[in-house]
Amino acid sequence: MIDIHCHILNEVDDGPQSLDESVELCRKLKDAGISGIIATPHYIPGGGYMPTLKTIKTKMDKLKNVLEDKNIDMNIYPGMEVFADYDVVDRLKNNEIISLNDTKYILIEFPMDIVPKHASNVVFSLLVEGYIPIIAHPERYTSEYRKTGVLEDIIYNGALVQINSGSILGDHGKKVQKEAFTLINNEMVHIVASDSHGQHRLLKNKDYLETKLIKFCGLENTQRLMYTNPLQVLENKEVEYLNKVKKSFFLAELFKNIRYNT
Ligand SMILES: [Fe+2]
Repeated sequence: MIDIHCHILNEVDDGPQSLDESVELCRKLKDAGISGIIATPHYIPGGGYMPTLKTIKTKMDKLKNVLEDKNIDMNIYPGMEVFADYDVVDRLKNNEIISLNDTKYILIEFPMDIVPKHASNVVFSLLVEGYIPIIAHPERYTSEYRKTGVLEDIIYNGALVQINSGSILGDHGKKVQKEAFTLINNEMVHIVASDSHGQHRLLKNKDYLETKLIKFCGLENTQRLMYTNPLQVLENKEVEYLNKVKKSFFLAELFKNIRYNT
């Protein structure tokens, strides 16, 4: 499994705070079943995290060297998680920010608590330039993104959606878990990634995640979410969309959540 959203580089954001911690995270993700990682440090203009491309390359090279020395077989690729603002296209053109592994896919995030008026415009401006935005973990945003139809419009226009493995497993609480399942049930998800931050939100067991997903949305959809589409993104190829989820799976999952909450 390729992890397309992972804060693996040290001292560039709220991820690992030392090279040792980055190496340890790689080791744990390897043990969890991850074979490749796209390093996606936060890029938040005005928010404190604005790593340069040079910094990302330097940190990646150092990490790769140590991984090789320690015989940890993990491929690392460059990327960013870009906080979406009006000027995202200009920043791409000015080489201030980068896409995922230099492909047409760019990982972007929006504010968690409000739906910004410019959300659709930002996505549209990227699409016009030939990029395909991947919206990071919308299951963690206010459900207004879905309820107002903004998220649906964005996806209809060509954006993709990545949800966190931890959201599926309940690490962010029942509300986020339910939102994650609702998005999958509405065929509004394309990729699952860990969004690991150092030792936080770590994907500990890929097989457990896979079992849980298969129970909910079937084998074929799970393969797309966990394996096919992350690899397609890495290789700059087209992703595959989800099939309709069987209604019984969704109702069973909801019923289970209600039972656990009472
Ligand atoms: Fe992230």
